[in-house]
Amino acid sequence: MAAFPGPDEADLVDALRRDPAWLPDLSLVAVDDSGLVVGHALLTRLRVGKGKGLALAPVAVAPEWQRKGVGELVVRAALTAAEDAGEKLVVVLGDPDYYGRFGFIPAQRHEVSGPFEVPEGYLQALTLPAYDGSPRGLCHYPEPFEAV
Ligand SMILES: CC(C)(COP(=O)(O)OP(=O)(O)OC[C@H]1O[C@@H](n2cnc3c(N)ncnc32)[C@H](O)[C@@H]1OP(=O)(O)O)[C@@H](O)C(=O)NCCC(=O)NCCS
Repeated sequence: MAAFPGPDEADLVDALRRDPAWLPDLSLVAVDDSGLVVGHALLTRLRVGKGKGLALAPVAVAPEWQRKGVGELVVRAALTAAEDAGEKLVVVLGDPDYYGRFGFIPAQRHEVSGPFEVPEGYLQALTLPAYDGSPRGLCHYPEPFEAV
């Protein structure tokens, strides 16, 4: 996909697809009228402390389709699918100005932390209706993310 400057994100998606963390029902794509994929939002299995959460990444929209609501559409669809599946918590690493609109707040407020240094506020978490106080703790990302 052309949304990112290099091949890293496409390689990441390919690697995630082959990883046990891949959850086919929770990876959403947006297509144009001809069926071409113009955006995607992936949710993969993320270990959080001793419990199970989801990582939202990567989210990408083709350049000519950006700022038209496609990103918002695929992210909302992915979060709804996660909610319907009874998932409890979603973690994202990204711009708080963008992800705040979906209800993400700084992860530390849910006692969730990341394994890496990121700018203040960039690691964010969203609790879903099934959330019962867990999971919380340190996130262990699927192995393909370590190569990014
Ligand atoms: C970031 C991205 C996924 C958003 O998807 P999108 O379909 O373009 O966004 P939407 O149309 O749903 O929302 C548009 C709003 O999001 C915000 N926004 C869009 N891109 C943004 C960015 N890179 N950073 C912060 N906010 C952004 C703006 O507020 C924008 O509203 P505006 O056009 O009125 O200013 C997409 O632009 C993309 O793939 N960008 C390139 C890759 C990238 O920068 N990824 C970073 C992910 S955090």
